[in-house]
Order: sequence, then structure tokens, then C-alpha cells
Amino acid sequence: MSHSAAQRLMARIDELAAISEEPGRLTRRFATPALSEAMALVANWMEAAGMTVRRDHLGNLTGRYEAARPDAKTLLLGSHLDTVRDAGKFDGPLGVLVALAAVEELAARGERPPFAVEVVAFADEEGLRFHSAYLGSSALAGGFRSEWLELADADGVSMAAAIRQAGGDPAAIAGERRDPAALVGWCEVHIEQGPVLERLGLPVGVVEAIAGQSRISATFSGLAGHAGTVPMELRQDALCAAAAFVLAAETLARQTAGLVATVGQLQVSPGASNVVPGSVALTLDVRHAEDEHRQAAVEFLRDAASSICSAREIDLDWRPSQESPATRCDEALTDLLALAVAEEGHPVEMLVSGAGHDAVALAPLTPVAMLFVRCKGGISHHPDESASAEDAAAAIEVLGRFLALLAERGAA
Ligand code: HGY
Ligand code: MN
Ligand code: MN
Repeated sequence: MSHSAAQRLMARIDELAAISEEPGRLTRRFATPALSEAMALVANWMEAAGMTVRRDHLGNLTGRYEAARPDAKTLLLGSHLDTVRDAGKFDGPLGVLVALAAVEELAARGERPPFAVEVVAFADEEGLRFHSAYLGSSALAGGFRSEWLELADADGVSMAAAIRQAGGDPAAIAGERRDPAALVGWCEVHIEQGPVLERLGLPVGVVEAIAGQSRISATFSGLAGHAGTVPMELRQDALCAAAAFVLAAETLARQTAGLVATVGQLQVSPGASNVVPGSVALTLDVRHAEDEHRQAAVEFLRDAASSICSAREIDLDWRPSQESPATRCDEALTDLLALAVAEEGHPVEMLVSGAGHDAVALAPLTPVAMLFVRCKGGISHHPDESASAEDAAAAIEVLGRFLALLAERGAA
């Protein structure tokens, strides 16, 4: 059964990948028409599987498959449907579609577990539009912060306006928090986004922890001027200051075990070839498995930025936009997921995730577990990202076994 289910999943991955804001590449940001179109497509598949569907006030989609008993707890499965820019087609959708396939198998067998199953398609995990990750899962976990509603996107549209335009209600987001007493937990299937499973020749692996993440926006403000007439020694060139900072971040990360630091976005103003850059806005992403090392690195880089700027008479505006802690997956739920992997005949490989996931936002609410699926070359956040139908089939089987083991243990 799971082989044909995997074929259908791969076809659905391609259907979703065709829904983009940009021609010729996959970009699907939070609260955009493209995201709503993708949500509507998945909602149709959920309804066809006998699930009741709902879009919440932030824009998340949930499909619910009722338990054998009305007062049973709920197991949350799923992942996210938003993407980065020029994305691969598996990061997010694979987890939503494997979860949907596991429910379709239950429905096909006419089985009702002693717990309800909800497949959640989060509306914003990547944070591409507002540089604030986990908006969707934060809403479910009660971690959504109202000040985020004032954040503006590159076009100056506030998050609150974007949510309203997409049919949501910013004032009702706080009410989306789920009651932890009514939940069994969260289990997410996701591509590994790294090379370990491929190197070991394994289709799946079990996540034991997720690295912590700091996201910062920084603006370097100098003085724009004529490229031909301002002498070098009189310049307050914002881009040269920012460039010195970018290299300082790279140097620190290369010298610090387990640390990664990335400047992924950098906007130069006024952006003319014959004008000395007056200001530069950039984003910094710092991660480490241990929070104290990550926080020390952020402190160091903040100090480095201010000394670079004072030496060059540049003003620095340093704004932390989000902190998410290193997160250990729940031991009992993870042990059960590892047992499901073993019972499906695969060696159990435990992995730490350098990538962030919605499990980080949900961990304060409910036990979380994650299953990684091998991806080619470990490539992700890139159009060459890929996973195989065989490995998707393995993930569907493991998740189905996990549901059966949970049911045997009467998780209700
Ligand atoms: O950035 C991450 O680690 C994830 O893909 N959002
Ligand atoms: Mn991602
Ligand atoms: Mn992801």
C-alpha cells in the first residue's frame, strides 16, 4: 500500500511545487495568495480522506481525523507549506503529505485510533516574509507575540495587514493556543537537510535535538556620496563596514566548533554604481546546539559590529528579531518513534538537527518527536533539494507503525 501512496505523494509534491509567487522558481511566503492556493489544494486532499478541515486565524490549515471516542486526545502531525526563496519542493510539504498519507491509510482500513489525528500545515515556519520563524506553530503553542504584528515586510506591509488580507484575524490569534491536556504530542516528518543519512545509506533517522537559533536585523548607516569626488579617507561607506562585519561573522564561526553564522540578506542603499553606499540592512542567523555558545557568539558579533562601526564613523542599529532555544525532543515519544523505525526493519540512527523546525515552538506545549528522511546530497533551501519515492514510502510506513504503537499504548 505505501508504495502507491508514495507515488501519489510525489505527484502531490510536484503539484504543490507549481504554486509559487515567482515565475520559474518556488517562493511561497506567509499570507500570500500562493500560500492560500497551496493550502486550498491540501485541504481538498484532506477532505477527500474524510477529514474535517479548518484554516485558523493566522492562516494555518488543519485536517482532523476523529478518534474512535469523542473525548479522546489529539495527536498532531504535519509540517509547513511556506518556503524560502527559490526553494526546494520537499522542505515542509513532505511532512504534511506523509502525515496525510498515514491518515489516508487509516481511513482506507476503516480504522479509528483511540486518539484523534490532526494534520497541520503551518502557514509560516521559514519566516521569509517577516524574518520571524515559526509564526504558525507559535500560534498553536500560545507563543505568538502581539508585537510581531507590527513587523513590516519588504513592501512595508505589516504582518497584521497581511493576515487580514489573507482572511485571518490578528486579534483572534491568541485564542488559537491548544490545550496541552487535550494533546498526545507532535510528530513531524521532514527531510534531513543534511548529508548524514545519505552517507550512512539509511532512508530515515530519528531526531534527538534541534539547534538553537538567533535571528538579528542590523542596519549600518554611513554617508552616501559621489563615487568620483569623495576621497577614500573621508568616506563613511556603509557597505565596507558591513563587509568587514560579514567576514568577522564568518571568521568567528569557522573558528568555533559547532557554530554556524550566516548573513543571508543584505540590502545596499541607495544602490547606484556611482554612489558611495549610505546604508546597508542585513540579516544575521546564528546557531549552535548549546545555547550558551550561541548567545556568547551573538554577544561577540554585536561587539564586533559596534567596534567596526565606531572605527568607520558608521551608526549601527542592531535589532534581535527572534531567539529560539536548543530543543531536545521528548524522550518517550522519540523512543516510540525509534521503535517504529526498528520494527519497520531500519537501523535506528539518532540525529541532531542544525535546521530549525516547528517542533521548537511546540515543545513548550506538548511532547515532540521528529523523523528525518534522507535527501540527495543533503541539499536544501535550493531547487536541487530532492528525496526519493522509496524513502517517502519508508517514512509513510514508519509513521503508520508509530500510530499503531501509540494506539497499542492507549495514548488517548
Ligand atoms: O532555517 C531553518 O533552519 C528552517 O529551514 N526554517
Ligand atoms: Mn526550511
Ligand atoms: Mn522546514
